[in-house]
Amino acid sequence: MLIKIGKGVLTLCMAFCLVAPGMVMAKDGNARKGKYLYRKYCRECHKEGATGDRVGKPLSPVSKTQAQWEEVFKNAKSLACADQWSQRKEADIDDIYAHLWGHAYDSPSPAKCE
Ligand code: HEC
Repeated sequence: MLIKIGKGVLTLCMAFCLVAPGMVMAKDGNARKGKYLYRKYCRECHKEGATGDRVGKPLSPVSKTQAQWEEVFKNAKSLACADQWSQRKEADIDDIYAHLWGHAYDSPSPAKCE
């Protein structure tokens, strides 16, 4: 009996841990600040017509759906620019996430921010 309950609780916790991080991050972040931080730290390489040694493709919130942004932020360590991300504070990344996710292509308020 106790073992059964224990297993149930464990399964619930595991399911929560798999789902929670993405959701919590998007909710915790400040999208307004994220927009500013994105411009400051990401835009240089990801704007239309960017030049330099390491030009990324042009990105804006509507470049991806919310599910796609979730994938990006879940696997941020495997991005070509992971070294750039790791220079930022975790809270700043959360804010950038809130901005991109919150205005994604399939969000209630899609935004193409230059
Ligand atoms: C020094 C230049 C540079 C900076 C700064 C930079 N990136 Fe990148 N990024 C790249 C390059 C180069 C790639 C690989 C080419 C590509 O896929 O665009 C890349 C890839 C990506 C991708 C994958 C592209 C895709 O369509 O899935 C995402 C998402 C991304 N960067 C987001 C960001 C975010 C968010 C920031 C700010 C925290 C950032 N980048 C900062 C250069 C940069």
